[in-house]
Amino acid sequence: MSSYDKVRTQSKVNEEHYKNTLARIEQIQAQFKAPGNGKLKGKVAVITGVGSLKGIGRATAILFAREGVHALYLIDYDGVNLPDLKSTIEGKYPGVQVTTLQADAADEAAISAVCERALKEQGRLDIFFANAGFASRDVLANTTVETFMETMRVNALSCFLAVKHASAAMLKLNPSGGKDKTGGSIILTASTAGIRSGAGTIDYSASKAAVNSIAKTSAYQLQRTDIRVNTICPGLIETGMTGDTFEYARQRGTAGKIGQLNPLGRFGIAEEIANAALFLASDDSSYVNGQNIAVDGGLSASHPVVPGRWA
Ligand SMILES: NC(=O)c1ccc[n+]([C@@H]2O[C@H](COP(=O)([O-])OP(=O)(O)OC[C@H]3O[C@@H](n4cnc5c(N)ncnc54)[C@H](O)[C@@H]3O)[C@@H](O)[C@H]2O)c1
Repeated sequence: MSSYDKVRTQSKVNEEHYKNTLARIEQIQAQFKAPGNGKLKGKVAVITGVGSLKGIGRATAILFAREGVHALYLIDYDGVNLPDLKSTIEGKYPGVQVTTLQADAADEAAISAVCERALKEQGRLDIFFANAGFASRDVLANTTVETFMETMRVNALSCFLAVKHASAAMLKLNPSGGKDKTGGSIILTASTAGIRSGAGTIDYSASKAAVNSIAKTSAYQLQRTDIRVNTICPGLIETGMTGDTFEYARQRGTAGKIGQLNPLGRFGIAEEIANAALFLASDDSSYVNGQNIAVDGGLSASHPVVPGRWA
């Protein structure tokens, strides 16, 4: 086969694979809309970073509502899409109490206040999903001290504050409100960039490695409280954060190549990360603690995939 024929064959294979990817994603989105199973019935949850229409935080808020969560406190520093999220959830799941707050997830006063508010209004806090984050773009030589520190502040400090204040709230008992033992689930969004290089800038990767470490150390320090702390390490997910990359590839006709380096050979969607957050939030993960769980199509488990090569 000439090299031209090889390229043509490979691009046909890619096209076919992309069609399969789109069909698979449609199937996952349909499953997401199925009725819930009450896995979070009666629970009270805080989620940060919910403001992006295609984001992981928004998808998780909707999934938690589907699963019967009692009350949601939803935070983003960008308030534009918060009213839409509130009305979407209340329209579909009228039993869920939704409070939206425009606040910085790395502001200690705001995070301490939301935990206090959940205790005051609901008598308990069961779940804190610290998901707010942002990705910087500069290469090493152009990364300033200010950028480095701001990335650490937003991505890592926000998770430290979540663990500190959510765990304090989860230690509070309220026997008449049905909480007679300490406990809860704290979930932090890290990244595959926090496990290996090649998936983000220096400051972003360092901040996500810090998030992975925060989960391990806090799980140790919260021993014997039944408060579990875990991270999710997403791979390449189509959200507001990565939207430009996807748009650019679609315009160039190279969308079939997105995600091809991982063993599943495709990108992921926010709903797939939300499903992992639900697992960690619910009793399904009652013995999972201090873990950094990659949800990345196998990216962090593999050398870069070479299509057609099996070893
Ligand atoms: N999309 C990916 O491929 C990917 C991969 C690995 C990790 N992540 C992580 O997933 C998390 C969610 O990101 P996403 O992909 O849904 O992106 P997104 O941009 O769609 O959503 C992130 C949301 O966080 C909010 N936010 C940012 N800084 C904040 C702050 N200081 N306080 C409050 N809100 C803030 C933004 O306004 C936005 O609504 C982030 O922590 C991100 O680092 C994403």
